[in-house]
Amino acid sequence: MVITGNNIHDSVERKLSFKSEDNASIWLIFAPKTDAVGSLASCLNFFTKHNVYLVHIESRSSTRVQSKYEFVVECAPGGDLKQAIQNLQQNSSYLNIISRAYENDLGTTPWFPQKIRDLDYFSNHILSCGSELNADHPGFTDTNYRARRKYFADIALKYKHGHPIPIVEYTDEEKKTWGIVFNQLIRLYPTHACREFNYIFPLLMQNCNYREDNIPQLEDISNFLKDSTGFTVRPVAGLLASRDFLAGLAFRVYHSTQYIRHPSKPFYTPEPDICHEVLGHVPLFADPDFAAFSQQIGLASLGVSDDYIMKLATCYWFTVEFGLCRQKGKIKAYGAGLLSSYGELEYCLSDKPELRPFEPIKTGEQSYPITEYQPVYYVAESFEDAKNKILEYSQTIPRDFTVQYNPYTQAVDLITSKSQVEGLVKKINNDVQLLQNTLKKL
Ligand SMILES: [Fe+2]
Repeated sequence: MVITGNNIHDSVERKLSFKSEDNASIWLIFAPKTDAVGSLASCLNFFTKHNVYLVHIESRSSTRVQSKYEFVVECAPGGDLKQAIQNLQQNSSYLNIISRAYENDLGTTPWFPQKIRDLDYFSNHILSCGSELNADHPGFTDTNYRARRKYFADIALKYKHGHPIPIVEYTDEEKKTWGIVFNQLIRLYPTHACREFNYIFPLLMQNCNYREDNIPQLEDISNFLKDSTGFTVRPVAGLLASRDFLAGLAFRVYHSTQYIRHPSKPFYTPEPDICHEVLGHVPLFADPDFAAFSQQIGLASLGVSDDYIMKLATCYWFTVEFGLCRQKGKIKAYGAGLLSSYGELEYCLSDKPELRPFEPIKTGEQSYPITEYQPVYYVAESFEDAKNKILEYSQTIPRDFTVQYNPYTQAVDLITSKSQVEGLVKKINNDVQLLQNTLKKL
C-alpha cells in the first residue's frame, strides 16, 4: 500500500478504477519532491486545475520522508481526480491513497484485508491526532508534551504485525495523570460496570499490573487477551478511518493508542488515549461473548459500501463505545466511552438519558454528538444477543460473498463456491460427532 517509485502509476490506476456512481471522498497523503517555499501551493494547484474540491487539508512532519513535511487532503467527489493525482504523483516523493474501491477479482469491492498481516497496509493511515495537535488541544503549546506524542507516534508508525510492542517508560508526570483517572474510576466500577467487566478487571490487576502507580504495557495486555479470547492489540498513532478500524476487529485485533492525555486536564481528552483504551476497552475483549460480538461487527464490515460502513460504525459507537446492558433487571455500562469517563458513567445510569433497545437496523441510523454526553443509549440484553442481532443484520447488507474467519491461518476465507460450503458441512458434522461423544461421557 505504500506507494513509491515505479509502482506508483500502477497503484493509481488500480485504485481509481472505481464505479462512476461512487460518491465517497478520497484521502491522499503526499510529500512534495521539494520542501521549497510554495511547494504545497504548487501541488494544490493540480486540484484546482482539474476541478477537484478539497474538504480537508492538514500538514504534519513526516516519518517517511526525512526532515520533511507531508500533507493529508480529503478530496470531494467530482472533477478529474485521476488526472489530478497523476500530476501530483509526478511532483511527490511519496503518495498514498487511502481506502479506495477498486476492481479486483471480486468485482468492484472496496479493498479489505484478508490476512492478519494485511493490517500493516493501513495501520499507519491515521486521519488525525497523531503527533500533530489541533490548536484547541490542551497540550498544543507544551513542547515537552508534543515531543512525547511524537515518541509514541513513532512507535506506532514503525510497528509491524508479529513484532513485540515496545515497552514504554512512562514519566512520573504521566503516571500521576494515570493515577488520578484510575483512582476516580475504580470507585464507580463495582456499582456501574457490567458483571463481565468486574470479573475481568481484578485479573488485569494481577496479570498486567493495573495499579494506580503503574500504566499497563500494551505488550502485557496483548498477551493476556491472546490467552483469553485470541484478541491482540497493536499500537496506532491516532484515529483510523472507520473502515480500517472495523477491519482490524474482524481479525480480533484492537488498534490502541499508547500516549496519555495532557496533565493539565486529567479528566478530559479530545481523543482516545491510554486511559480510555486500557480502562475502557481492554477488559471486555477478554470476555468470550464480547470478543465474538466485536469480531462480528468487523466481519460484517469487510468489503461493504461506505454507506454500510457508516451504519456499522454507528452500531459500534452505541455498543462498544457507549453500550448499556441489562443484568438481573438492572442497567449496567459496558461501553468504553462510559467506563473511562467518571462523569458520563454516573450520568448514563441516571434518569436523564433516553434508553432504547439495541436493534442494529434502527441503531445504525441514529445520529449522535461526539463532544457531549449522549442523549440516547441503546441497551443490549446480553453480548450474545447483540452478536446474534449483528449477525442477522449483516445478512441484510449487500455483498456478493460471505466471510469466515479462520483462526488457524488468521485469515478471512471468502465463501464463494459449492466446495467451500461442502467443507463447512464436514466441519459441522465433526462438531456434531464431538458433541455426541461428549454427551455419552457426561
Ligand atoms: Fe474507544
